Amino acid sequence: MCGIVGFVGEGNAKEVVIEGLKRLEYRGYDSAGIALNIDNRIEVRKHVGEIVNLEKLISDEDFDSNIGIGHTRWATHGAPSDINAHPHVNSDSTVAVVHNGIIENFVELREMLQKDYGIVFRSETDSEVIAHLIGIYNKGDLLDAVYKATSKMRGAYAIAAISSDDPDRIVAVRKDAPLVAGIGKGCNFIASDIPALLKYVREVYLIENDETVVLDKNSIVIYDDNRKVVDRDVFHVTWDSDAAEKEGYEHFMLKEIYEQPKGISDTLHRRIDENGEIKLDGIDISKEELEGLSRIYIVACGTAYHAGLVGKTVIEKYAKIPVEVDVASEFRYRDPFVDDRTLFIAISQSGETLDTLAALREAKRKGARVLSIVNVVGSSVARESDDVFYTWAGPEIAVASTKAYTTQLVCLYLLALYMGRQRGIVDDDTLSRVVSELEALPDKIEYILTKEKDIENIARKIYKNNNVFYIGRGLDCAVAYEGSLKLKEISYINSFAIAAGELKHGTIALMEPGTLVISLATQEKLYEKMISNIVEVQARGAFILGISKVNTKEIEKHADEVIYIPHCIDDVVPVLSVIPLQILAYHIARLRGCNIDKPKNLAKSVTVE
Ligand code: F6R
Repeated sequence: MCGIVGFVGEGNAKEVVIEGLKRLEYRGYDSAGIALNIDNRIEVRKHVGEIVNLEKLISDEDFDSNIGIGHTRWATHGAPSDINAHPHVNSDSTVAVVHNGIIENFVELREMLQKDYGIVFRSETDSEVIAHLIGIYNKGDLLDAVYKATSKMRGAYAIAAISSDDPDRIVAVRKDAPLVAGIGKGCNFIASDIPALLKYVREVYLIENDETVVLDKNSIVIYDDNRKVVDRDVFHVTWDSDAAEKEGYEHFMLKEIYEQPKGISDTLHRRIDENGEIKLDGIDISKEELEGLSRIYIVACGTAYHAGLVGKTVIEKYAKIPVEVDVASEFRYRDPFVDDRTLFIAISQSGETLDTLAALREAKRKGARVLSIVNVVGSSVARESDDVFYTWAGPEIAVASTKAYTTQLVCLYLLALYMGRQRGIVDDDTLSRVVSELEALPDKIEYILTKEKDIENIARKIYKNNNVFYIGRGLDCAVAYEGSLKLKEISYINSFAIAAGELKHGTIALMEPGTLVISLATQEKLYEKMISNIVEVQARGAFILGISKVNTKEIEKHADEVIYIPHCIDDVVPVLSVIPLQILAYHIARLRGCNIDKPKNLAKSVTVE
């Protein structure tokens, strides 16, 4: 997630801004930059990659300035590159801007700026329009120019701007993206997040939506959207910087679990138009190409592979194209049947997993069209794909994947519906029913999150078990695999997932009094069969934790504990049923004293075979 830092006053702006950016590194970023006002001239330096690259770039330059802004970028519009990195400047470099968020109407604004003002754009970003807009309104009063510019913009953003025509002030705005102003002595600060400022200040103003803040070395003035001054209480920060990075959550994993409603809304955003039709940016497969496909391979590793299992069911159902799912490390060594009528779908959070990348290259070599579902913009998988469908989960820092998985699922639903529509299989009623179910997911997840305490209480009863089974049928089986992986990777408990109908073919031999069996029973058509499987393990003395929909109470007769998820159509259940399993795994690992965000032997991005 992008980060903003700004400084004005007595001190060395370059040092303060770089130090603040380093404190925001935990949020994830792909490039960094700084703009300083030096003798009424704006100097910008930016570099792709880590902040050390930027530091090296400016290490020999004698930048003595008392006002500056900086940014760490997490690419959305345009790949990570020096040019796309922030700050962006207007045509004559009198204004510099850093921006977090998305300007929704940037295409329209860019066209207007090109046509009416002859502006030549340098980057592929949406953010550059902000610098030019402020530039055309800037007559020496930066506050006025920023007001005028933001009145033209739609979207969610936090912005900080400086101008050589108004050289002693930083103007910053918040609209649905966080912003705080730090209160110094003879200096003041702006940042997207408190940790950036903790080395310097403990007293901050929390800027609220639609507020604009003007900072000079002696004052911080906050204005509302009618330019009336707002009186804001000072907020005294009592946490240390580690707690601040996690925004009060004990671990990144928990924070990321809680970020899922937003990740899903962002992933759906702008991919469903006002008529409820699916519009997929970054995907350019014609109707004829879809008609010509003989098969789809979904290939991925770990959690992303589990998302693929759900993808197979929904693509086959809605688009009626045969789908095979494979783990990437196996796919490329089994001489898969791939040709130019094959669509290869790679799923990867990082976009750098070596096995997935190698499988993708193999499929490409054999003539397949490659579509990837990726979280990290500009990553290797994204760059080597014909079509890229981004999950907008934001950076995932905890090793155990949570929000990347649920946003991958959302992409797969959208893709299935899109292909089904293109092929004339999904009718209007089906489309509108499934789309409204997708749109309802963020609120339903919010509801499940309110049950965290209840799930923690269940975790207290079971966290000492050393063997856990996850069972389910149909889509529940795919989620069982993911629930089991989540538990084993962070708690080191030996857990095992299996299709419930397979139990009696061997695994049931392991059931004994007290064996913990987490049983997913959400699929309406399979409910009775699943209850029979639960009864089978119950008869062997297993302790049963059921996961079910609120309207199916039969399970209570057989399970020792039940976690209910809100009602939804069966196809979208995985997005909901995985949430209690993530929370459960988290609390079990916490009770066992494990290193949740960095489990032993695991890495976030597996770039070796
Ligand atoms: C599990 C987990 C891993 C990853 C796998 C693929 O929580 O995170 O199983 O899903 O290593 O990684 P990506 O999605 O980056 O290709």
